[in-house]
Formats: sequence, C-alpha cells, structure tokens
Amino acid sequence: MVAGGSHRRWLLWAAVVAHVVASGAGFVEDLNESFKESRKDDIWLVDFYAPWCGHCKKLEPVWNEVGIEMRNMGSPVKVGKMDATSFSSIASEFGVRGYPTIKLLKGDLAYNYRGPRTKDDIIEFANRVAGPLIRPLPSQHMFDHVQKRHHVLFVYVGGESPLKEKYIEVASELIVYTYFFSASEDVLPEYVTLPELPAVVVFKDGTYFVYDEYEDGDLSSWINRERFQGYLHVDGFTLYELGDTGKLVAIAVIDDKNSSVEHTRLKSIIQEVARDYRDHFHRDFQFGHMDGNDYINSLLMDDLTIPTIVVLNTSNQQYFLPDMHIENTEDMVQFINSILDGTAEAQGGDGLLQRIKRIIYDAKSTVVSVFKSSPLLGCFLFGLPLGVISIMCYGICTADTDGGVDEHEAAKKENGDRELTDEGSEEEQEEEKNGKYTELSDGELKQKDIMEKKKD
Ligand SMILES: *[C@@H]1O[C@H](CO)[C@@H](O)[C@H](O)[C@H]1NC(C)=O
Ligand SMILES: *[C@@H]1O[C@H](CO)[C@@H](O)[C@H](O)[C@H]1NC(C)=O
Ligand SMILES: *[C@@H]1O[C@H](CO)[C@@H](O)[C@H](O)[C@H]1NC(C)=O
Repeated sequence: MVAGGSHRRWLLWAAVVAHVVASGAGFVEDLNESFKESRKDDIWLVDFYAPWCGHCKKLEPVWNEVGIEMRNMGSPVKVGKMDATSFSSIASEFGVRGYPTIKLLKGDLAYNYRGPRTKDDIIEFANRVAGPLIRPLPSQHMFDHVQKRHHVLFVYVGGESPLKEKYIEVASELIVYTYFFSASEDVLPEYVTLPELPAVVVFKDGTYFVYDEYEDGDLSSWINRERFQGYLHVDGFTLYELGDTGKLVAIAVIDDKNSSVEHTRLKSIIQEVARDYRDHFHRDFQFGHMDGNDYINSLLMDDLTIPTIVVLNTSNQQYFLPDMHIENTEDMVQFINSILDGTAEAQGGDGLLQRIKRIIYDAKSTVVSVFKSSPLLGCFLFGLPLGVISIMCYGICTADTDGGVDEHEAAKKENGDRELTDEGSEEEQEEEKNGKYTELSDGELKQKDIMEKKKD
C-alpha cells in the first residue's frame, strides 16, 4: 500500500512537472512595470530578455528549470523574467545593456551573473548571493566538510575588528565570485599557524596563505587575485575573469583528447611549475591549460598550432611565445624569467595597430561566418554594395557614351531587384537575425569585453 501510494504520488508529481515544463513557465513570474514596487519585499533572480534574441531563447528552458528547482528547494529567492524591450525604462534602471542579462536583486543591491548559463551554475550563484554574506563555521567537522566542497576557501579568523568590517565590505561585493566564511582559531586544522589574530586566510592548492596587509595591498584586490586555484583548466570565461587579477597567465594549449606524450608533457610541466615555484611566481602568474586552440587563436589573432605554451599579459593583451623547445620545468622557469626581466619579445598588445587589426579581423570573421551560415544572405549583404559600387564606377567611366549605359544599368538593376526579393522572404530575415546573434557568441563577446576592459 505504501509503495502504491508513493508510486501514485510520484506519478502525480511527474504529471505536474511535465505540465509545468510543457506550459513553460509555471514557476517563473512574468514581470511587468509593477515589479518596480513589488520587488522590494523579496530577493529576485531575474532574466531580462528580448523576444528576438537567440541566446535568450536558448536560456528559456534552462530558466524554467531554475524556477522549478528553486521552488522545490524552498528557496526564498523568487525567479522572474522581464521582456526588457517592453519595459525598457525599468530594465535600464537596473543597468541592463545586453540580452539576456541575469541579475539577482537583493534590497538595494543588484548582482550581475556572468557565469555559464547552465541550471546548476545559475542556482549555485543565486544561493550563494542570496544567502548570508559571511557564513560561520562553528566546528572542525563543519570546516572539514566545507573544505572538501570548495577548492578555494576564504576564512576570517578572530573576533570583531576593523579587519572584519573590511572583510564584510569586500564580501558584499565579491560574493558574486566566491563564498566567505568565518571561524575561530580552534576550528582550523592543526597544521595552521597564524602569526596574529585577527587574520584572513585562504585555503587552496593543499595549503593555506595568510593575508598580509603590507605585502598584499588592500584586501579586495588580494581576494580577487587569490580566488583561483594555482592551476586551472582555462576556458574563455576563466580567461575573461582572470583579466581582473592583472596577472600573467601561462597556459599549455593542448588537445585534451590527444594522449600523445607531447600534449601531456606540456601540461605536466606547467603543473609542476605552478606547484614547485609557487612562492616565486604566484604573485604575478596564473597557470593552467586550455583545450583546443580556436579560442586562443581568435583572441590573439594568431595561428598557434597545438601543443604549445603561451603566456598572456591580461593587463595589456600582450603575449609571449617560447623561442625554444620547452623540454622540462627548467626550460619553463627560464622562459618565465625571461618574460619577467623583459628579454622575451612581446607580441600583440592593445596599441592602435592592434586595435585596427582587431577591427579587420572581426570584420573578416563576420563576413566568413555570415557566408557560412547563409551563403545567399552573404551574397546579398556584401554583393549588393559591391554591385552598386561597380555600377557607379561603370557609370562614371562610361559617362561620355550616354546611350548604352542606361540599358546596362537597367538590366543590372533588374538582377539586383530579383536578388532583393529572393532574399526578402521572412525565412531569410529570420536567418539574418540568427546569424547576427550566433556571431556574437559568448566567446567573442568575452573577447570584446576583455578588449574593452583594457581600454578602461
Ligand atoms: C503585472 O504583474 C502583476 C503581478 O504579476 C499582475 O497582477 C498584473 O496583472 C500585471 N499587469 C499587467 C498590466 O499585465
Ligand atoms: C596528437 O598530437 C600529435 C603531436 O602534436 C599529432 O601528430 C597527432 O596527429 C595528434 N593525434 C590526434 C589523434 O589528433
Ligand atoms: C603587463 O602589462 C602591464 C600593463 O601594461 C605592464 O605594466 C607589465 O609590465 C606587463 N608585464 C610584462 C611581464 O610584460
């Protein structure tokens, strides 16, 4: 009987879920201008979208799942979506500039979500930001439990102090990136010895580091630098985030699936340098590897072949390639030292020439991707202006012999018109839109962001 009952309940639940999934948005509130008033009593996670935007459409099913799961978890966070084109004044009050924009609104504060648009990542973000700024760790058991779950763990140790106030202030800003904990000294593992209390400690890479105001500068930038593990699997998004740290990023660009010695060797060289030379380099360097060279090549506008090693300066877009074969960790250390003492030759950068190159490069890839996704549209977009220009040239060149020109021009115009109607159908227009938004893939947007950040 019990089994039957739970079975029936399960069926009912499945039916409800199916219904909600099918109907789309049971647990996601469709927000309108009344939101400005009603939002104040609750914490809100809002997707500001535009009806025509492809990435927004891709987010929609994910968003519905987020709504369902937040409700099932009993989360105090309400999930909503707002058509930012219909309610543009509210959207711009919240600082919405692109679509989709995901924000968590808590009291007077609005936190932007910039991570991957997956259900788990978004929910993790919402729970982190909506929860307490500083989470106490009351016991050793609790500390161990939390340490297992977080690769990088910031802990404030001690009682009330100006440092604690500072810690809270920094947490209210950087909670979008990481968790903040507090504990008393007796809760920490035995191997931890603190020079003084209060202290801010980060546990990571199998060890711990203590914040030192004199050596490390202000707490906020120290936390910003230390919130990454010493060695990372780097993708476009992490690279973009690493831009905030101002560090140099040394990466092995490899093919993860290729098990040949060359690939695994470069990866382990970087890993070893990250681990064994941490004290020497961690202030200036972040280490990691990247799978595949597509992203890095479009970022650097270069043609690196994998496997290779590249060092990026995230504060000025310059990069360094080893001029010799990197055989072991000593070679790598020598390469890093040559970058630090300025003897390695820098490439790229954010100078005027590079910016012009970027514009040309972007234009070129836009043309190529338009042609790839829709050859007809490509011919239309780029062929028509060319056609017009050649007609004009033809007209100018043959201006003296009036008579024949009109006929030619008329014929060409007709061709042009036909092309126009061919391309003017709804389907193609739809494709134009899609084309536009696929081009602005996340990766490229991030690259642009990186570029813009550099300009700031
Ligand atoms: C706006 O949203 C509120 C709450 O969701 C709803 O009660 C109201 O009817 C909506 N107003 C309009 C004009 O759609
Ligand atoms: C693996 O990498 C090696 C060396 O770079 C290359 O010659 C080989 O073709 C790659 N194998 C595969 C399966 O991609
Ligand atoms: C990286 O860029 C910054 C900003 O331009 C510069 O100050 C720094 O010296 C560069 N680092 C290296 C190793 O070139």
